[in-house]
Amino acid sequence: MIDTLTKKDLDQAIAKRRTFAIISHPDAGKTTITEQMLLFGGVIRSAGTVKGKKSGQYATSDWMEIEKKRGISVTSSVMQFDYAGKRVNILDTPGHEDFSEDTYRTLMAVDAAVMVIDTAKGVEPQTKKLFQVVKKRGIPIFTFMNKLDRDGREPLDLIAELEDLLHIEGYAMDWPIGMGKGLKGIYDRQNKRIELYRSEAKGENFIPLNADGTIDPSNPLAEEGEYQDALGDIDLLNEAGNKFDLAKIAKGEQTPVFFGSALTNFGVKTFLDSFLSMAPGPSAHETVDGDKIQPDSDDFSGFVFKIQANMNPNHRDRIAFVRVTSGAFEKGIDVTLARTGKTLRLNNATEFMSDEREQVSQAVAGDIVGLYDTGNFAIGDSIYTGKTKVQFPKLPQFTPELFVRVTPKNVMKQKSFHKGMKQLVQEGAIQLYRTYNTEDYVLGAVGQLQFEVFQYRMLHEYNSEVEMTPIGSRTARWIDPEQLDPSMASSRNLLVKDLAGNPLFLFENRFAENWFHDKYPDVKLTAKFEMD
Ligand code: G4P
Repeated sequence: MIDTLTKKDLDQAIAKRRTFAIISHPDAGKTTITEQMLLFGGVIRSAGTVKGKKSGQYATSDWMEIEKKRGISVTSSVMQFDYAGKRVNILDTPGHEDFSEDTYRTLMAVDAAVMVIDTAKGVEPQTKKLFQVVKKRGIPIFTFMNKLDRDGREPLDLIAELEDLLHIEGYAMDWPIGMGKGLKGIYDRQNKRIELYRSEAKGENFIPLNADGTIDPSNPLAEEGEYQDALGDIDLLNEAGNKFDLAKIAKGEQTPVFFGSALTNFGVKTFLDSFLSMAPGPSAHETVDGDKIQPDSDDFSGFVFKIQANMNPNHRDRIAFVRVTSGAFEKGIDVTLARTGKTLRLNNATEFMSDEREQVSQAVAGDIVGLYDTGNFAIGDSIYTGKTKVQFPKLPQFTPELFVRVTPKNVMKQKSFHKGMKQLVQEGAIQLYRTYNTEDYVLGAVGQLQFEVFQYRMLHEYNSEVEMTPIGSRTARWIDPEQLDPSMASSRNLLVKDLAGNPLFLFENRFAENWFHDKYPDVKLTAKFEMD
């Protein structure tokens, strides 16, 4: 299989891979920190604030925004660059309008996550949602507390909040010395130095710490109140804080916390260096048969975690994103699609090099390849070479939060409507429900973009114009069919059934759900959030 790579080359190439996603609430600074990383990776030459995102009314990715602003070509979903001896793959997890099930599924394809938090805001709702998905996977999570150049919350509060809201231990790798206008630097516990904030530094950026963890009293910083306060906090952390524990970090039970300011590129390099040295390379993936597929296996394997419809009307193709789990991917290889047993020749793939979208020649375990897809792939598909079947577990389904009723615009075109609907649902692009008695179609998604993509693809791929009537944001709760009495349903708790025929209510809000619980105290409702 591996013609051009020797076993040793393959092993070395795999060991260099670091594949991760950045999770955050919109505006916490994900784009800005990514830009800084691209800068370190030599992918872009200048960085600055990415403006105007909020005015863009449709689904462009942040990367595409960077592309527009900087005049560089980066792909919309995966960024790859070399830095400090590592081949870094950053997978985009879009926020804003782009949020969809893909966002969650992308987290199935990474080996670590970086959580960016705005120090003025702390843990925000979208961070929490994404965090929970990552936490279930038990992979390492690294935290960057951003926007130190602005006044934010007490650092000790921010660490405590990680434990209170996310139930993860925080270990401060470094600590702010002041904030906002009073920002002097960071106290770097790991590297035993103080990193001075850019505007304060005249030539020297670092002050080494003495053995007792303080700086020379002759240094002017030693007199500053911010420094004294930081020392006080450090004493507290040393005595009463969590102990650094690599084993816990590896399992996602402890998160190393870094402080900085992405916008002024302060603390980002310290973070990146430390993160890349601690983050794991590709690890083994278990199949449904319980086999562990080792990344350095001679045979190629991978799974499709996302299918992106090309929104450009001139290109009707779709891209199936494959996380390579073992071996090497080479252009033109024949793979078996586990779901159907069919052999496919993969001639048409794209690699996510950051300076241009090149035709991929070779990617190894840890990398992502984009396959131009004409309808062969479904989300969660496993592909492999070699004789032994490789079938990875199904990817989790995520409970939708937004719902619409959907009907064909032209009733004469029922056939193409049903065909498109069936295929797109099968592919995993959207969730389908039927109302209990009237059998109306209801679609569920985690983000508005999913509906837009669905509508677009119905029109362009199936020639079916669809009408969507928003039902809005609802909470889905499954009910035991034995306990169901259809008269329990109302407009505030719409009764529908899922694809498997299981009944569920779509509650208008928490209030409606509580009301239901009060009225039917014996009825058990479950939030199906399958992670198995
Ligand atoms: P996102 O991708 O997570 O949504 O965030 P993004 O990087 O676009 O950053 C959101 C805003 O926060 C941007 O401001 C950006 O410049 C700013 N920002 C990011 N990192 C820092 C930081 O370290 N310090 C400060 N002070 N600001 C930071 P913007 O686009 O100008 O919008 P606005 O929020 O100022 O209106």
